[in-house]
Amino acid sequence: MLNGKKNVLLAVTGSIAAYKAADIARGFIKKGYTVTVMLTANGAKFITPMTFETLTGSKCLVDTFDRNFKYEVEHIAAAKACDLLLVAPASANVIGKIAGGIADDMVTTTILAVTSPKLIAPAMNTAMYDNPIVQDNMKKLKAYGYQFIDPAEGLLACGDTGRGKLADVEDILSVSQGILMSSEKSGALAQEIPEESEDGGTLDFEGRTVVVTAGPTQEALDPVRYITNHSSGKMGYSLAEAAAKRGAKVVLISGPTALKKPENENISFVPVVSASDMAEAVFTHFEKADILIMAAAVADYTPKTVADQKIKKADGGMTIELARTTDILGTLKDRKREGQFICGFSMETENLIENSRKKLFKKNLDIIAANSIVDPGAGFGHDTNKVTIIARDGEESLPLISKAETADRILDAIIKRVK
Ligand code: CTP
Repeated sequence: MLNGKKNVLLAVTGSIAAYKAADIARGFIKKGYTVTVMLTANGAKFITPMTFETLTGSKCLVDTFDRNFKYEVEHIAAAKACDLLLVAPASANVIGKIAGGIADDMVTTTILAVTSPKLIAPAMNTAMYDNPIVQDNMKKLKAYGYQFIDPAEGLLACGDTGRGKLADVEDILSVSQGILMSSEKSGALAQEIPEESEDGGTLDFEGRTVVVTAGPTQEALDPVRYITNHSSGKMGYSLAEAAAKRGAKVVLISGPTALKKPENENISFVPVVSASDMAEAVFTHFEKADILIMAAAVADYTPKTVADQKIKKADGGMTIELARTTDILGTLKDRKREGQFICGFSMETENLIENSRKKLFKKNLDIIAANSIVDPGAGFGHDTNKVTIIARDGEESLPLISKAETADRILDAIIKRVK
């Protein structure tokens, strides 16, 4: 805290995206936080301390040969005063240094002394981001409780197109605010590394078969038209990938999405189109499942008849008659074997928690992830999400975090309740 306000310590490192840190600093100030900015020597080549000092009204800490401030005291004081450390943009170099415990400049020395939640927003070239060394460093930091906001895909400064663009400034601000507002800082502060597999991940789902559904369904009206919804499939795909990383054998049943089919050899991919295809695939794979996660946005209604030929327009309006689809979870409640675990999802525009709790009991679920669609940055299409996990023995409200992070938190909630 500084002057009674929550304080964000923003570390800016050497990346062309450093200029976006000015908008991040300004965004925090607008939201009523105080901001202290630290610049690495390379960061200072992209943006000047004066920009930040003008925006924040506070001294920008820079690692230069200018020793006119009390270095040792200053970095500990900055670390102690912060409620959130945000590294944005975070270069591959600084991520590597933090993961290696290196403290050779103002920024890395300070970060090592920070005990509040830490959020890292990487920005770099796609090949650098995909490099297993960088991926391993991030995995290690995640195990220490560092949170990440994944970079976006797009045209990069180097001319390449791919993943590596600094996440959207609004998303960074929303995720940061979610962390600052969350009362559950303990998860973010975890300092112990859980048991690890050879590649650095936890294997708490090993030996379990997890069926995950994802995406929307498409209900055909005729050969060229269909009814669908806004589901992007990102949440379901993140769950499938996270479960596979944690050792599960995953069956991902996916409605039509724009996402790339996961390449993980522990994920078998079952593409479906309609709610009826989805029901058939789930019923087939549920037999062997230990855990079912129904993240798909399955249509509740489908056109009663599907025209063989394209429907031609005529004068006047048109009425489409719809029929109910099979309620997959509703059907499974009678087929569930002893020991099988079911996680449902729920999306509502009003009374989210109350309606989701009703669904938990009505559909005989073990847990339900209540998915906000009203909070900025949460729900359809976003890379971030805000979910409340409702179980029979309690509730846990997650802050606005990445869908990958949300997936891991949902899996944590599942694994501690699986018999
Ligand atoms: N679901 C399902 N079969 C359907 C529709 C939905 O199994 N035909 C699953 C979804 O995958 C999700 C959960 O049911 O896990 C909640 O879906 P939702 O449509 O929000 O809830 P409903 O109980 O159908 O309630 P309502 O549509 O009235 O909000």
